[in-house]
Amino acid sequence: MNQKHSPETVLITGASSGIGLELARIFAQHGFKLVLVARNRTKLLEIAATLPGSSVHVIAKDLSHPRAPQEVFEELREKSIPIDVLVNNAGFGQYGKFADTDLETQVEMIELNIVALAALTRLFLPDMLERGTGKIMNVASTAAFQAGPLMAVYYASKAFVLSFSEAIENELHGTGITVSCLCPGATETNFADRAGMKDTWLFKLGAMDAKTVAEAGYAGLMKGKSLVIPGAKNKLLVQSERLAPRKLVTAISRKIQEQR
Ligand SMILES: NC(=O)c1ccc[n+]([C@@H]2O[C@H](COP(=O)([O-])OP(=O)(O)OC[C@H]3O[C@@H](n4cnc5c(N)ncnc54)[C@H](OP(=O)(O)O)[C@@H]3O)[C@@H](O)[C@H]2O)c1
Repeated sequence: MNQKHSPETVLITGASSGIGLELARIFAQHGFKLVLVARNRTKLLEIAATLPGSSVHVIAKDLSHPRAPQEVFEELREKSIPIDVLVNNAGFGQYGKFADTDLETQVEMIELNIVALAALTRLFLPDMLERGTGKIMNVASTAAFQAGPLMAVYYASKAFVLSFSEAIENELHGTGITVSCLCPGATETNFADRAGMKDTWLFKLGAMDAKTVAEAGYAGLMKGKSLVIPGAKNKLLVQSERLAPRKLVTAISRKIQEQR
């Protein structure tokens, strides 16, 4: 039943910068064929040209459009490119009080961070199940573990990713498919800039570099770990919240999110 073929192909969303780009470099170094997805085709093609000795297929797609996951799936099916490893990494946040935020941007965030991630997983799972082998990495965040005042929808979207990943990881026991949820803390990428949160305590108190985060994610995925939290500080933060009153945790979360 286990129909593994070599070299394996990894699909990475959000591969044009930050954690996704570092993951693409690591998978390429380990001999994987790559399918890279993001909106910026030029950037993806430039990256593809720099990756060591690997076959790279580039798909420029805005995954916040409802039809986009299906279109990615169909393009790969037409080209007979099977996906062995799915990395749902693309995502973004937006800083500000919920009542003041732009509704269109909030909906776009839900479409990308939640809908596209679930849809891609649902689309690629049947083939993995048929082959009896496969790996899925979903990129959540330490934001998944508590509410996030001043970034309410983003934190809630990452709580979805964590809960969803842990649930399907359980459902897939014994199938040959593993699901790993990567939960980085603050990381130096384009994320804080796009979210408009560079001056928050969260980022001023120190961010990890994207390469270290991606290395932890790759290692955890390969070991079949269901939850990967890179960095001792982030692990401690998540653990320390477990027994604390929820309102206190939310209040501290707000403090960290405030502008310095
Ligand atoms: N940086 C942090 O502090 C941090 C912490 C915890 C979790 N995370 C999570 O890590 C993941 C990667 O983020 P990052 O920090 O590496 O940020 P980043 O540098 O901004 O990278 C985001 C990637 O997603 C792509 N993307 C954005 N919108 C897209 C869309 N609508 N359709 C398709 N692709 C899209 C971007 O490419 P294009 O612009 O070309 O589309 C880019 O490749 C996200 O899920 C984020 O929530 C980040």
